[in-house]
Amino acid sequence: MKARVSPLPNPLRGEGVRVPGDKSISHRALMFAALAEGESRIAGLAGGDDVRSTARCLAQLGVPLLRGDGTPWHPKPLEAESGGHESRLRRSSCPLHDDDAETTFVPPKRPPGSAALPERDPDMGDDDAIVRGQGLAGLREPLGPLDCGNSGTTLRLLTGILSGAGVEATLMGDESLSRRPMERVARPLRHLGATIETREGKPPVVVRRGHALHASAITSEVASAQVKSAVLLAGLFAEGETSFSEPAKSRDHTERMLRLMGAQIAQRGTTVAVQGRAKLNGIALDVPGDLSSAAFLIAAALIAPEGSTLSLEHVGVNPTRAGFLDALGLFGARLQLELASGGGPEPVAKLTVQSQRLRGARLDGDLVLRAIDEVPILAVLGAVAQGETVIRGAQELRVKESDRIAQMAAGLRAMGAQVEELPDGLRIQGGGLRGAASIDSALDHRIALAFSVAALAAREPCSISGAEWADVSFPGFYRLLRKLGADAELLP
Ligand code: S3P
Repeated sequence: MKARVSPLPNPLRGEGVRVPGDKSISHRALMFAALAEGESRIAGLAGGDDVRSTARCLAQLGVPLLRGDGTPWHPKPLEAESGGHESRLRRSSCPLHDDDAETTFVPPKRPPGSAALPERDPDMGDDDAIVRGQGLAGLREPLGPLDCGNSGTTLRLLTGILSGAGVEATLMGDESLSRRPMERVARPLRHLGATIETREGKPPVVVRRGHALHASAITSEVASAQVKSAVLLAGLFAEGETSFSEPAKSRDHTERMLRLMGAQIAQRGTTVAVQGRAKLNGIALDVPGDLSSAAFLIAAALIAPEGSTLSLEHVGVNPTRAGFLDALGLFGARLQLELASGGGPEPVAKLTVQSQRLRGARLDGDLVLRAIDEVPILAVLGAVAQGETVIRGAQELRVKESDRIAQMAAGLRAMGAQVEELPDGLRIQGGGLRGAASIDSALDHRIALAFSVAALAAREPCSISGAEWADVSFPGFYRLLRKLGADAELLP
């Protein structure tokens, strides 16, 4: 599926816009609720494919999960305008993918004696979920492999949970996920006593039924919230304290949510520790909007014609995750942030932004870690700003859904920018984009989204193939762009 995006003819305008629920928080809310004792009610979950993958895997592990509208959470047909999920499955060359099994997915039968599905709550919407927690000992072995789709968070965090729970399972993913490194998770979990196999360091990942894990102190060379979360989740099952030390503090959604659910979590500098054999309580949570998705709309408004204005409600602004907002300051942009309530353990805010002139910026260090998923769109801002932008310390981007450094360099060059690819980032000469290019999303939602925004600010229309990948995190993105005043058409 192709998106044809034209330069914005008029200002872009939107008031009180809501972006999809935060993907990182949505995965965690579903998984941790599954491990809790009692029921959890989660409102405003991310509706994209990644979180559906988590819901589907949990259902396979015997966790009863309902949408707020009363339907089982996983099999709901994709509503996104692109209908992209199925076309992506057809594109996947992962040998373990079975299209028929995927499209005719039947929820697993309830084991005898297990709890009935909870009743529907009349106040809940269809982005909400009711999860009946199974406790730490309640997951059951899946009948087949757990298909994590495109979602690294699903695969890595579930590997930690299943290692701790002693549940044997094979975790696999699509073509993009099958290329991503998994030893960074398997190695520390083996240190805790888990038996895990990878295929040359990549998925499928096999977790073997083993003996109980033992608590331990883990030191990681890479600052990663996924690795940290996998270790802390495994540590929940081990007697004593399991700690994780990383070179810099990665996003802390896991710590915040586990604390809210009653786990004992201690933070000492960049080390975090969990006390094992915890009992988690169910939660009621309103998931904040995803700042990583909001970033695309904020960037679109910033580089749109004069007079553009956009306000976004209920966006998560967790400081371990909000490097994008700091980066905007370095580009010379002004943004109004009004803190609001209602995000549970996470800070949320209303964000308002107007179109304005940007100057080139130097982005590196801790800021880049806190904006790692926003680097593609920050690179677009760099190409539009006046002067040079240099992004360093972003080497992790090479092992995301695609090699995002290489993809951004190639795509921006195709749109007329002068870009130097660095081992850990990009050097971009700003001044605007010609456009008139065909860009491929490279099986990567953030590449599809970033170049769609870039095309709004270019001088000539562009086409983005594989635009359906946007549904991984931002279903309805092109429809929303049109509502805000853009000319963004989806073609088969
Ligand atoms: C995520 C952590 C980050 C981020 C990813 C989501 C999470 O990955 O890039 O999109 O939900 O924990 P790493 O843990 O690999 O840094």
